[in-house]
Amino acid sequence: MAAEEPNLVTEDTKPRASVRKRANEIKPFRCKNLIAVLENPTDMINIGTVIRNVNALGVEKVYVVDTRRSLPDDWQDLRERRTASKTSVSAVKWTFVRRFDSTEECFAHLERKGFTSIVTSPHVKGKASIFLHEGDYTAYTKLAVWFGSEATGISDLAVERSEMCISVPMFGMIESLNLGTSSGIVLYEVAKQRREYQSKYRKRNQRGQRANPLPTTIGPKV
Ligand SMILES: C[S@@+](CC[C@H](N)C(=O)[O-])C[C@H]1O[C@@H](n2cnc3c(N)ncnc32)[C@H](O)[C@@H]1O
Repeated sequence: MAAEEPNLVTEDTKPRASVRKRANEIKPFRCKNLIAVLENPTDMINIGTVIRNVNALGVEKVYVVDTRRSLPDDWQDLRERRTASKTSVSAVKWTFVRRFDSTEECFAHLERKGFTSIVTSPHVKGKASIFLHEGDYTAYTKLAVWFGSEATGISDLAVERSEMCISVPMFGMIESLNLGTSSGIVLYEVAKQRREYQSKYRKRNQRGQRANPLPTTIGPKV
């Protein structure tokens, strides 16, 4: 199993002062208790893209259900794989990623930790199906957003164990968006809402209102 938190210092790389400074600056903007889950992704480029999106949008972690056992157990090994490191533009070094052997194992872990799951699909599925812009993603303190595999989409088991299914509205002739692309669109909206909430309240149910809201944006990296 991978280490519990991403490490800024690896054996061979000591963080430079500028890296440490940036890491401190972005800390308050990261969305606590927000996890992106990839269910059986097959394409390393897509995995790298999702990791890049997760890192850039301030999502806390990535979980990968890898039933075929195609990814290394030790995340450090993946960090050293050229494709993952290249497509994620090194975000894999700064992002916590954990793999699970099955969808069931991942749900057991998330539910034990008190996470609510929602799935994403271009199709209407599950107990409730909504368009992305219709959702309130601050209603759950701990939230896991699931993305399905490139060929088969999200599994029936993931749909059954989730509160709802969200779709990005599409207006073209094709059936679906690419996995990496959809993760960027969905996580942007979810993280934006949760960052706004975190800026106003310290606790759930709109308790612990801050006297002065924290900023929700940060200047571009210089
Ligand atoms: C290439 S799509 C999978 C297509 C598959 N044939 C299906 O039936 O879902 C890979 C994943 O991207 C996400 N996705 C793609 N298009 C989406 C959309 N319009 N809305 C929400 N999620 C989408 C879903 O998580 C989906 O499982």
